[in-house]
Amino acid sequence: MSTHAEIKRVTVPQLRACKGQRKIAALTAHNFSTARIIDEYLDFILIGDSTAMVAYGLPNTLSITLEQIAQHTAAVVRATKHACIVADMPFGTYQESLEQAFRNAAYLVSHGADAVKLEGGAVMAPTIEFLVARGIPVLAHVGLMPQYVNTMGGYLAQGKTPDAAARILGDAKAHEQAGAFGVVLEGVAEALGTEITEQLSIPTIGIGASVSCDGQILVTEDMLGLSGERVPKFVKRYANLEESMRSAVQRYADEVRASKFPEPQHCFAVKRS
Ligand code: KIV
Repeated sequence: MSTHAEIKRVTVPQLRACKGQRKIAALTAHNFSTARIIDEYLDFILIGDSTAMVAYGLPNTLSITLEQIAQHTAAVVRATKHACIVADMPFGTYQESLEQAFRNAAYLVSHGADAVKLEGGAVMAPTIEFLVARGIPVLAHVGLMPQYVNTMGGYLAQGKTPDAAARILGDAKAHEQAGAFGVVLEGVAEALGTEITEQLSIPTIGIGASVSCDGQILVTEDMLGLSGERVPKFVKRYANLEESMRSAVQRYADEVRASKFPEPQHCFAVKRS
């Protein structure tokens, strides 16, 4: 008789059930070392397409590949045992057809993702429905969608006019109807974040949205102070790891140059027989 490995991670149905019960805390991760540390504190970890910028120094999210996200997902999965793992579908890997979206989402699941996230308005609802019906949970992403940087003409807050706000609310409702287990609301007016959260039966995950969202997500490097001076308005810095790293590396380099490191306890002794 075959057995199934015991699932100890937060599951997608558990995330879905947080609505109205407790807030969901999420962050991004793309490497083993960081994921190992942050895992126990979070409900889910996103291998975001922001990996393009924070890991590869690319100018935007548009050129990260499916294979890169798959490999980063596998590393994060190996490092973690608590948080649910959500992998971002890169630009161009799900917009062409339902079959393309399923094939590529399944590839991320085969690397350990418990769910995938994809960007887009109501036009993506049939894709969400197709994936969910075939066993792949989907977290939708509306409002400011970085994969649409070229059509938006920059990273601009969305939903500021009544028409634009109504469109984003409609997008979120379409995704709820299609079976998404949650919706990321990025860069939307605060009142709109609150309204969408009140109107949906699935959790909203805010990033630059509203404190009334059902959960929040940030890019880990931004909140730890590892991504330089310029960060979006919605980022709160919880640490300044750049300063700590600079001073540790400066001390190391000084000690190496002054022959103060390594000390005897860092060296191997000769065994005397
Ligand atoms: O790629 C990303 O980091 C995201 C955010 C929602 C955190 O999509």
